[in-house]
Amino acid sequence: GSGGGRYMKRILITGGAGFIGSNFIRYIIKSQKNFELLVNLDLLTYAGNLENLQSIESDSRYMFAKGDVRDRTLVEKLFETYDFDTVVHFAAESHVDRSIIEPELFLTTNIVGTQTLLDVAKRHWNLSPKDKYSQEYRAGVRYLQVSTDEVYGALGTAGFFTETTPLSPNSPYSASKAGADMIVRAYYETYGLPVNITRCSNNYGPYQFPEKLIPLMVHHAQRNVALPVYGDGMQIRDWLHVSDHCSAIWTVLESGRVGEVYNVGGNNERTNIEIVKCILRELGRPESLIEHVKDRPGHDRRYAIDNTKITTQLGWKPFYTFEVGIHETIQWYLNHQTWVERVTSGAYRKYCQEMYG
Ligand code: NAD
Ligand code: DAU
Repeated sequence: GSGGGRYMKRILITGGAGFIGSNFIRYIIKSQKNFELLVNLDLLTYAGNLENLQSIESDSRYMFAKGDVRDRTLVEKLFETYDFDTVVHFAAESHVDRSIIEPELFLTTNIVGTQTLLDVAKRHWNLSPKDKYSQEYRAGVRYLQVSTDEVYGALGTAGFFTETTPLSPNSPYSASKAGADMIVRAYYETYGLPVNITRCSNNYGPYQFPEKLIPLMVHHAQRNVALPVYGDGMQIRDWLHVSDHCSAIWTVLESGRVGEVYNVGGNNERTNIEIVKCILRELGRPESLIEHVKDRPGHDRRYAIDNTKITTQLGWKPFYTFEVGIHETIQWYLNHQTWVERVTSGAYRKYCQEMYG
């Protein structure tokens, strides 16, 4: 590693074909982080797109495995073959609106998937796996759970989420992520598995699936289609550029204290309506395109992260200001219209099928 932290050799990344996972894989390969091998385990659901990884897929340290994090036999086989010392668990169903329609999928993917990974890692890394009291693990191993600020629920107009804020999730999505965090905690408390949890605020940046606010609104504005703002649009999200989330995860992997939770955010609170107007300005489109639609049920009013712990204890800080980041991101979507079209039409799925069956 760079900062004298933990050194990783063989990394299992789950969900690496999605938005943040693919940014993370490109980030660690392009910034020449020191490791031997990374295996990307991804089921390639509607949200998984291998085209996001075309720029690095020929790197000799990169491998792709198509499969389900709930498939215990497969996860065991991967551990036996590659002997990972690090797991970074991104794979999840991630969209709140989908969770309202299909909650069960979120529970099995996000909770059972997490427990499967934890359990295989525990058995593989524990020095006496048959002894139920053993809390001794191979030196230097680490499991990192990529969680979200949504597990804390909603804030009023004042205050911030800290790592000790009680979990109070409001949607099936956030409840499933909170459930997963609880299982991670249990594997630390009961089995002593060396874990970390990161809880990041809303990410934006390249390769985000256009069901999420920013790419969705850019796509609509570009085509002069109405921009669907839920309710009054005064809900607040705390935005962080995805590459800053990636650097935070790497920082925790290298130097996070075992068993600790780290909140990740860059102090960029914006109302949804501000975001939408900013996109319209950048594209030179009129505000009359905004259409207030029925609110999302259980909609959280405000999220805001207190990042004191990761900034002061681990020395992480974000690189992007929101102004630069949002401008670059909007331009990225305008310059990658083929990517957007292939994602919205589903054409990318054919590519994945042809590559991997
Ligand atoms: P995404 O929906 O873009 O990607 C999810 C990926 O997981 C896809 O590639 C999908 O194919 C894969 N996947 C889904 N089910 C799987 C399964 N059963 N087995 C293997 N792979 C499976 O999500 P994202 O926005 O990149 O989020 C990644 C992680 O970060 C999630 O855990 C999410 O909760 C968390 N997170 C997201 C944000 C955000 O703003 N997007 C913020 C904080 C935390
Ligand atoms: O806070 C982190 C979370 O951020 C992650 O854990 C989730 O995986 C990620 O999807 C995101 O959740 P949100 O619900 O905040 O993101 P979304 O882009 O769906 O919505 C952002 C805000 O915009 C939210 O207040 C709802 C609103 N919205 C969204 C859509 C898609 C609209 O007003 N109209 C829309 O069409």
